[in-house]
Amino acid sequence: MKNLKTKKSSPDKSLTKKGKKKPQSNSIRKIELFDKGWRFLNSDPKGAEKIKFDDSKWEAVQVPHDWAIKGPFDKNNDLQITTIVEDGEKADTEHSGRTGGLPHVGKGWYRKKFSVPKNSQGKRFFIEFDGVMANSKIYLNEKYIGSWPFGYASFYFELTDHMKFNAENVLAVRAEVETDAARWYPGAGIYRNVRLVTVNPIHVAHWGTFITTPKVTKTKATVNIKTKIDYIPGKNGKTEDIELKTEILNPFGSKIASVSTIKSIKGSSTIEQTLDVEKPKLWSPDSPDLYTAISNIIVNGKTVDQYKTTFGIRTIRFEKDKGFFINNRSLKLNGVCMHHDLGPLGTAVNMRALERQWDLLADMGCNAFRTSHNPPAPELLDICDRKGILVMDEAFDEWQRAKCKKGYNRLFDKWAEKDMRAFIKRDRNHPCVILWSIGNEIGEQWQEGGNKVAQMLVDICHDEDPTRLTTAGFNGPDVAIKHGLADAVDVPGWNYQPGRYEEFHKAHPEWHTVGSETESCISTRGEYYFPVEEERSNQMEQESRQVSSYDMSSTGWGYAPDIEFAAQDKYPFICGEFVWTGFDYLGEPTPFNLKWPSRSSYFGIIDLCGIPKDRYYSYRSKWNPDVETLHIFPHWNWKGREGEITPVHCYTNYNSAELFLNGKSQGKRKKDKNSVYDRYRLRWNDVKYEPGVLKIVAFDSKGKPIAKTEMKTAGAPAKIKLIPDRTRIMADGRDLSFITVRIMDEDGVLCPLADSMVHFDLEGPGRIVAVGNGDPTSLEPFVADYRKAFHGLCMLIVGSVEGAAGQVKIRATANGLRQAETEILCESPAEE
Ligand code: GAL
Repeated sequence: MKNLKTKKSSPDKSLTKKGKKKPQSNSIRKIELFDKGWRFLNSDPKGAEKIKFDDSKWEAVQVPHDWAIKGPFDKNNDLQITTIVEDGEKADTEHSGRTGGLPHVGKGWYRKKFSVPKNSQGKRFFIEFDGVMANSKIYLNEKYIGSWPFGYASFYFELTDHMKFNAENVLAVRAEVETDAARWYPGAGIYRNVRLVTVNPIHVAHWGTFITTPKVTKTKATVNIKTKIDYIPGKNGKTEDIELKTEILNPFGSKIASVSTIKSIKGSSTIEQTLDVEKPKLWSPDSPDLYTAISNIIVNGKTVDQYKTTFGIRTIRFEKDKGFFINNRSLKLNGVCMHHDLGPLGTAVNMRALERQWDLLADMGCNAFRTSHNPPAPELLDICDRKGILVMDEAFDEWQRAKCKKGYNRLFDKWAEKDMRAFIKRDRNHPCVILWSIGNEIGEQWQEGGNKVAQMLVDICHDEDPTRLTTAGFNGPDVAIKHGLADAVDVPGWNYQPGRYEEFHKAHPEWHTVGSETESCISTRGEYYFPVEEERSNQMEQESRQVSSYDMSSTGWGYAPDIEFAAQDKYPFICGEFVWTGFDYLGEPTPFNLKWPSRSSYFGIIDLCGIPKDRYYSYRSKWNPDVETLHIFPHWNWKGREGEITPVHCYTNYNSAELFLNGKSQGKRKKDKNSVYDRYRLRWNDVKYEPGVLKIVAFDSKGKPIAKTEMKTAGAPAKIKLIPDRTRIMADGRDLSFITVRIMDEDGVLCPLADSMVHFDLEGPGRIVAVGNGDPTSLEPFVADYRKAFHGLCMLIVGSVEGAAGQVKIRATANGLRQAETEILCESPAEE
């Protein structure tokens, strides 16, 4: 993508050059990534936790792993016969593709054998899971260790009592994904990272630090550090005198401050320390500077633990009349909501795939995101810390009242407090997190007493983190106000209410407010239907199962971006918005959720494989004034429509422009504040189609031509072009290059109707990880070496092989087209 907005971003210092988490010093605290050596079976054999169980025929897998992404798609996969009350349904209906049509429902086992050296006897061992989908049960050497049902939660267990030394240990994990448990594709299995952590008996507890900056001025920041130290002294255990020495490193890695506390401990103990940082470099979206705290525990002059915490120094504030402020600067939240899947890669966490999402969104001017509707992968918050993206960190989509028969409602009473505390403890040191969201569109809005549940969750948030405010996304504002839920949270979030912001503000002038979920505009990349008109419906009839991309179509409760823009511009008290959604995601194929083969969403600004739709340029023209946007649509290949009205729209940050068709002026247009659809886009509604060249010339404020672009009618498809997003990747087995495949005519013009079947092959140390094309109805598998182009484009995702450096040659062929080749260099740098 051209014109990438240049912003400073901090390097990820916890990664080696190979992109793995660095072990934090072997003798003191050892952190091993448990990614390799797993065996997997997609069923539930009896005794799979037993040491002697024969797993030799199971599939060898690497985690993070999503057992369902390979497919095949099938209408009967999690076919939900249910009434979606939130969509206004009154009776049970068959919802195909609601969770993506992939085979995630079922049971699966993972087993991993490992050993620990004899000299680690006396240490303590913890297994950390960033998330297992779902209902995990963990066993070590056939002993049951524990369970964690919520698939989005990070959790850990101690393994010490059942560990064998200098012998084989068997870790077994059972996961079960139920039917009717999700409103979107949840993924399946150990889809996030796992680590084995070995520590001395006296150590910093898991998520054991909490760092705040109670006073920040230009010259000085007060840094407060609470450190929880765990020590189980055992039968003959004695009180130990320990020193906690906390050192602060500045964003360049130099030690700038340190504080020591001596304490006698027997059991767990929390130590509070305070120190000053002179002339702090403040964390902000433009300059995401990160500090590091190193907590050293010293006993008898020996360091027994060392624990690192990354944090930022910044102030945030919500003002009832003026919105959101960071470091005393007002900032509109130009945010998107995102589910956790990575399109063709499924839910298995991949750092590069996440980073690429955020590079595309940042170029659009996006500065915030909402982790709809569950705790994200911890890596995502690391990325947001480093790239300066603000986060509304959300915990739940359901409380006690069900949206899905087997959803979180069944766990809420027993687990909500545990999940909420774990979530906040895990995420509270991230400077990117600005709000805790306790829930999305929860059923308790409609319930007398719903405020009590809200208050319980708000109190947990404030107890674990008194520095941040809480929010929730309300779609029933009247009942949320009536039943006291809006009052219970600190910043009421309104879902789909741009027409009522003013009314809420007048009635409750003391409230801070945010557009927690906006638009739900729907579109399919490259599809355009005529006549062009506004369309709002949860069920549409198009035989194609596709939605027009003029960005005037939405769900019944949704609307075009233009409408939210106007409200955001009008009301300074609104902190900003979170668009539903940044990327298309698997599942929830509204408005075709009753009509197989639709199996993924139409909501994305960017399609499922990461290709921007037209709407991308609408946001970019509004949110990223630093770069030029001049984007016209639809495409200009309308054989059979000669002479018919074919409206042309343009997203641009210029105020006026003139359109020419084959050199003939179609008139000048100027943005018009008084018109819904002419305020943020330019429209030529009466253009009559003729093949040729459509050209647009934009003017500056003095009326001088300042920029132009053109679109040509494409000839017959003639050749393929491969465009890798990166031509050098790390040979670490995880890094990826996303290669856009374009079908072009002889002159290099994109063929917007081409649907050629493209085949891929590789030579060298690389592998095809997945393919995609952004078509929400395609039932072709994601894990394959072929893909049909969709509107002239598709995506090939190539990955490296660990330890195998070298040049990878990639070839794409298709019947009747000239083939294309490209190369990617897989590099294996020396370890630091
Ligand atoms: C919202 C809901 C989202 C998604 C969206 C689709 O009401 O919070 O999760 O379902 O509708 O328009």
